[in-house]
Amino acid sequence: MQATASAHCLHLLSSFTPAAFTAGGSACRRRNAAAPATVRMALREDGPALAVVGVTGAVGQEFLRVLSDRDFPYRNLRLLASRRSAGRRIEFEGREYVVEELREESFAGVDVALFSAGGSVSREMGPAAVERGVVVVDNSSAFRMDPGVPLVIPEVNPDAMTHIRLAGRAKGALIANPNCSTIICLMAATPLHRHAKVVRMVVSTYQAASGAGAAAMEELEEQTREVLDGKQPTCKIFKQQYAFNLFSHNAPVLSNGYNEEEMKLVKETRKIWNDKDVKVTATCIRVPVMRAHAESVNLQFEKPLDEETARQILKGAAGVVVIDDRASNHFPTPLEVSNKDHVAIGRIRPDLSQEGNLGLDIFVCGDQIRKGAALNAVQIAEMLL
Ligand SMILES: NC(=O)c1ccc[n+]([C@@H]2O[C@H](COP(=O)([O-])OP(=O)(O)OC[C@H]3O[C@@H](n4cnc5c(N)ncnc54)[C@H](OP(=O)(O)O)[C@@H]3O)[C@@H](O)[C@H]2O)c1
Repeated sequence: MQATASAHCLHLLSSFTPAAFTAGGSACRRRNAAAPATVRMALREDGPALAVVGVTGAVGQEFLRVLSDRDFPYRNLRLLASRRSAGRRIEFEGREYVVEELREESFAGVDVALFSAGGSVSREMGPAAVERGVVVVDNSSAFRMDPGVPLVIPEVNPDAMTHIRLAGRAKGALIANPNCSTIICLMAATPLHRHAKVVRMVVSTYQAASGAGAAAMEELEEQTREVLDGKQPTCKIFKQQYAFNLFSHNAPVLSNGYNEEEMKLVKETRKIWNDKDVKVTATCIRVPVMRAHAESVNLQFEKPLDEETARQILKGAAGVVVIDDRASNHFPTPLEVSNKDHVAIGRIRPDLSQEGNLGLDIFVCGDQIRKGAALNAVQIAEMLL
């Protein structure tokens, strides 16, 4: 199912309306659309009781859009955030909800909880929810590398969570959503990996502000205005000027010289592909793009894979589109995939440094709030039903 651009029913009644959050065209139009007069079919007695944790954040807001776009069925809905947001009103699918402060008791009677409130909240509240019988789909990195927690991209490794279903379950469970850059990369690389087995992958990312949350998007917008007005840019989220600049990803740098974001690509790929031997290296860069990540991916294969076969494989793969028009120099861009479900792939070409069709270079763009976070998590929740 693809997201529709139909008039939307999500509307925050509170003062939470950062202009940056609506950048990207269609999101803006959808947020400002009038709420429908009737309650949509997604509110259904046979659906699970649902909670959205971190609902006021960039991913939390996208959860609501995706749930609505996909008519995800739910019996009732709890919207949870920090104490700061408690009491805010959110209109969703023709009903008004009051945001509640997240507490352990918030999970009473909940079947599925979509978490996007950061790692420390997940570490504290995830297990508390599971104890209460909730199936938690977590967007943070807190449990991704836990061997007992499936790390799932539905198009890539759905089998990892076949043992977790809602019907007849005796207890709760945790399912982790991979890192956004990992999801976007593997949506493109996996169909090729299935055909020719990737033995080494070199990834360079160009990551948008949205990956760092709503406040980072506001910062990019504010700094852009300030620089254009000849003022000193205000740095609150990032240590250095972001507008008209780029820098190494803001994740902490580890003793091996890689930052945490880069190591997520390395470790999560091995877990998702269930291949401890695949060699992965990454360089992650934050670029002044509002929304959607881009990645240059170099692949080395065990078996030969020519460019045209790769193109045909990708054209037939779920959740991706090929934009690879050399004649007009048209390839994927972050703007073209913003607010879209699919990951776009282009610049498909043989790696000239490798003999015998054993290497390919591709360029990939994906909306990391959507497929890199909210959509992927909702797809996981759909697989529970
Ligand atoms: N942005 C992305 O593209 C992306 C992609 C993949 C994964 N993720 C992950 O998703 C999570 C959220 O990211 P984001 O970009 O949406 O961040 P964000 O825009 O900063 O939103 C954070 C959300 O968490 C809530 N929160 C913070 N502290 C809380 C607490 N103590 N109790 C309850 N709620 C609390 C905030 O509520 P208040 O408004 O009340 O403060 C807000 O709703 C992070 O773990 C991030 O790594 C993000």
